[in-house]
Amino acid sequence: MSTGPQIGRDVDRIDAHAKVTGSARYSAEQHPPGTAYAVLVGARIARGRVTGIDTSAALAVDGVLAVLTHRELPRIATKPVVIPSLAGTSAHGQSLFPMQDDRVHYAGQPVAMVVADTLERAEHAAELVEVDYAEEPSVTTIEQGRDDAFEPERIFGGIVPGRTERGDVDQGMREADVVLERVFHLAANHHNPIETSAATAVWEDAKLTLYDTTQGPTATRLSVAELLGIPPSDIRVVSEFVGGSFGSKAMIWSHPTLAAMAAQYVRAPVTLSLSREQMFTGSGHREEQEHTLTLGARQDGTLTALRHRKLSPTSPYDDWAEPSISPVSQLYTCPNFHGVYNLIRANTMTPTFMRAPGEASGAFVVETAMDELAYELGIDPIELRLRNHADTDPETGQPWSSKGLRECYQRGAELFGWALRDPIPRSRRDGNWLVGSGMASALYPVYTPMSPQRARARVYADGRAVIETGASDFGTGVGTIMGQVAADALGMETEAISVRYGDTDLPNTVAAVGSAGSGAVSAAVHTAATALREHLVAQAVADPESPLHGADPSRVQVSEGRMFLSERPANGESYTDLLRRHMMFDAEALGEWEPPGQDTGYGMATFGAQFAEVGVDPDLGLVRVRRLTGVFAPGRVLNRKTARSQLLGGMLWGVGQALLEATHMEPRQGRWANASLAEYLVPVNADAPDIEVEMIEVEDRVVNPLGVKGIGEVGQVGVAAAIANAVFHATGRRFHDLPITIESVLARI
Ligand code: MOS
Repeated sequence: MSTGPQIGRDVDRIDAHAKVTGSARYSAEQHPPGTAYAVLVGARIARGRVTGIDTSAALAVDGVLAVLTHRELPRIATKPVVIPSLAGTSAHGQSLFPMQDDRVHYAGQPVAMVVADTLERAEHAAELVEVDYAEEPSVTTIEQGRDDAFEPERIFGGIVPGRTERGDVDQGMREADVVLERVFHLAANHHNPIETSAATAVWEDAKLTLYDTTQGPTATRLSVAELLGIPPSDIRVVSEFVGGSFGSKAMIWSHPTLAAMAAQYVRAPVTLSLSREQMFTGSGHREEQEHTLTLGARQDGTLTALRHRKLSPTSPYDDWAEPSISPVSQLYTCPNFHGVYNLIRANTMTPTFMRAPGEASGAFVVETAMDELAYELGIDPIELRLRNHADTDPETGQPWSSKGLRECYQRGAELFGWALRDPIPRSRRDGNWLVGSGMASALYPVYTPMSPQRARARVYADGRAVIETGASDFGTGVGTIMGQVAADALGMETEAISVRYGDTDLPNTVAAVGSAGSGAVSAAVHTAATALREHLVAQAVADPESPLHGADPSRVQVSEGRMFLSERPANGESYTDLLRRHMMFDAEALGEWEPPGQDTGYGMATFGAQFAEVGVDPDLGLVRVRRLTGVFAPGRVLNRKTARSQLLGGMLWGVGQALLEATHMEPRQGRWANASLAEYLVPVNADAPDIEVEMIEVEDRVVNPLGVKGIGEVGQVGVAAAIANAVFHATGRRFHDLPITIESVLARI
């Protein structure tokens, strides 16, 4: 009678039908009666002052309700502070809120907001706003600001120190037989989810409902409440559907608050959508970066020292860098390590989380250098990594909560056919294509939320159940796994359970960031559903009319909603029978999971191994990824189908990072030169190789009750290095700059 475990099953996404049929309504599609539309006007200069704004032509357009500038917009109640959204508190993306004074800190910074009765009229009027500026010289690139770099105290919203040290690096370098120093340059990147950021604000007296595209409805609620100076409980945030994010909606930017201010001003609901171009200056980016990595090793390949400096531009007012040094520090055993961040004050907005923030870039650097070391010493790249395998966390010496990396190397090598590879560069051809292969390791930390995570489980007398959490599903499948996790805990089938999520009226969970969404949500749902089952079983054994009366609750199993004794399955009754007998329509339980915090006494990370085969056309400079193999050890897999999709998507981001994605700064004007999907290149189907994904389940008893380590981002980590290493194998040329473009290949081949 048992239907078997629901966790791990290939359950189809519960939101798939709504999305492909177009019935899913996104935040910009919420149109309460009388909705007006706000459009932002961005600064055309990168630094200076607004000296005058003529709004008369815009105000004269039919249907225009208001034009708000720093003269009209209310002042915010509290200056925003950048705190990563995993904290469960407010999570401002940057400490600048626009239109509070006449200063311009970056091109695209909003200087006016037009509100009209239709989107088209608002867009038209926005074109007519005349802004005069007093321009000042700007810095927007590493090249321009290199001489003024400084070492920050902390980066990444204050949670990562500016410097990491262990052992004695100079001594380690002296002990080395080989010292290798390389400089890497990585282009700035933008997330480019297909749904641009948007918010619809609806006031009812003093209460605000915000439909917001966000990874964290509670983060939006708390951030907007701070800025408006109203109680968070007066704000409800709804994020029913979110069309991708990749970190661009992980922090709270100014637009939901601006939508609320506009709605208050015109006394009507207001939708504020960023245009595609505004997404390049409205929701953060991965910063341009230069890495200098020095690596010392003995003849046998063992590392003696690593020195790493990362240099990158941040905004004029926040110390943000993605933490690219941690993967360099944590991937391999190395007693002597020195890593330092250097920042440049630049006229851009504050950078932000983007797709494995820190790991994707850091792994490119260290995994390229490790491949060079392997060639230098004549050691197979996998063997070199095994010789430096970190049995414990190199940063703390603590054991890993679980690892599985050796198994990933082994299985990946088998699937990919690594043993057949002739390591000699430029040794393989396919027609005109030079063919090569490369590999790299992947690591992504397991972040645990800093606050309790809540969910509610309710069983109805009709045999169905509903599970609720506040979390938003921005394309990860977290909504789908809620039902599966609850099914196992309640002893029901997934199909008998409906789920509700994406709403601050539901039990609070933290923003789904840092690949921590499924870990947090599954823990809360498991806790709630387990509490409800225990409650119902306790009620049955206490009930003289129940066939289970007097039974030991620990001997009671539940399957398909029926409670029975393990040793006598015929002896039992369903939840429905129990509830009906007690004249109860339903029963519910709130579950609260207290996360262990980051200080568990264990190193916590998800590991994996990436393999790439490329073809390089030496005449055209084309690099084509022919196949990718990724093997990962993500702890418990909740849904093999959605997990595979996450990892596969992550690997494709790696193809983008390696070969396509770059936002180019035009330094004289201080503007992003290719702020469109036509010119910001992302992999499309024609760029997508055959991708093989495999998961090795490892047991983890530390991270959360179900041992879920997270897979949202680790799929990207290491892909760019595996591809660059494959390009070296194919061509005999090393590429230290990303993306590897046609021009750069032609220049070097
Ligand atoms: Mo993720 S880049 O932490 O949203």
